[in-house]
Amino acid sequence: MMYRVALLLAAATASASPLVPREAPTSILPSGPETSGESKSVYNWSEGWETKYPIHESCNATKHAALEFALDETMQLAQHARDHLLRFGDKSDLVKKYFGNSSTAVPIGWFDRVVSADKSAMTFRCDDPDKNCATQDAWAGHWRGDNATQETVICDLSFQIRKNLFDVCAHGFTVANSALNTYWAVDLLHRVLHVPAISEELVHHYAEDYNDALRLAKEEPELTGYDSDILQMFAIDAWAYDIAVPGAGCTGTQEETEDEDEETSTATTTSASPTATGDDADDGDAGGENCHTHADGTAHCT
Ligand SMILES: *[C@@H]1O[C@H](CO)[C@@H](O)[C@H](O)[C@H]1NC(C)=O
Ligand SMILES: *[C@@H]1O[C@H](CO)[C@@H](O)[C@H](O)[C@H]1NC(C)=O
Ligand SMILES: *[C@@H]1O[C@H](CO)[C@@H](O)[C@H](O)[C@H]1NC(C)=O
Ligand SMILES: *[C@@H]1O[C@H](CO)[C@@H](O)[C@H](O)[C@H]1NC(C)=O
Repeated sequence: MMYRVALLLAAATASASPLVPREAPTSILPSGPETSGESKSVYNWSEGWETKYPIHESCNATKHAALEFALDETMQLAQHARDHLLRFGDKSDLVKKYFGNSSTAVPIGWFDRVVSADKSAMTFRCDDPDKNCATQDAWAGHWRGDNATQETVICDLSFQIRKNLFDVCAHGFTVANSALNTYWAVDLLHRVLHVPAISEELVHHYAEDYNDALRLAKEEPELTGYDSDILQMFAIDAWAYDIAVPGAGCTGTQEETEDEDEETSTATTTSASPTATGDDADDGDAGGENCHTHADGTAHCT
């Protein structure tokens, strides 16, 4: 090897020398100016493929760092959800529970888009262009809808309340009973699924809550792969069971519906539209109006 390199080097510097074999040099000689000029116009399929989530300059250094970390967790969460689906397919009880007998290819596709789709058209911003952070009660962020369909606003509140993935299953969290947006990664998964650059406007809200998700998997499995909450629940349940507390997780069971109604009536924070229509264009879709806060301070989202 060394001998060959030495020979070729000699060829480049002294091609006229009779000591150098004739056939060696041409392929490694410096190619000259005309080739580097040409390469600019050569088609490069991957140029401009932005797989990281862009963060707007309105996020100061602190928020940029927190958001970058949280978006990275979102990609880890989605990647694990995809890997669980690829590893086990419909042999997994978790997969059967959330997606019924529907094809795993649909959720695999969305999770893969969350990880690897081109994100150059979208952005996360920390200013408050629609004044929802300032005026709406307890909004932690919102999708800008018709005002800027690829943009998501993250309000100051998010930076105070969202938890990281290393806290999954801690502090009494259960998938069935706790707010999905307890964690940055799940909250941001929800938010990116509103953005057309990720969801192609095909992911919506069908299931109301955990029990309703289980019902949907049995009765209308073909919708489950397109349901934002089911994608979120599956992702955090798989993370909890496979990674946070291996072999145990923290699924829990949902309280009875009567209790839910009671609690809703005593909620300390309610919002303008408590229905699960989070994909309406004018819908703030924050930790916001799909959620209410119980008297004991826990948030619950439908
Ligand atoms: C094509 O573009 C990508 C992204 O900008 C770059 O990393 C890669 O080196 C380019 N490939 C070629 C052959 O120029
Ligand atoms: C960024 O803004 C937040 C509040 O909006 C503030 O607490 C924080 O100190 C700011 N960071 C920097 C580096 O200015
Ligand atoms: C899946 O389940 C639904 C609802 O139980 C049923 O109507 C449908 O025929 C099943 N599809 C397949 C491919 O087994
Ligand atoms: C879009 O902008 C209008 C006018 O500023 C505002 O009233 C509306 O709430 C905004 N929509 C969202 C989803 O923030």
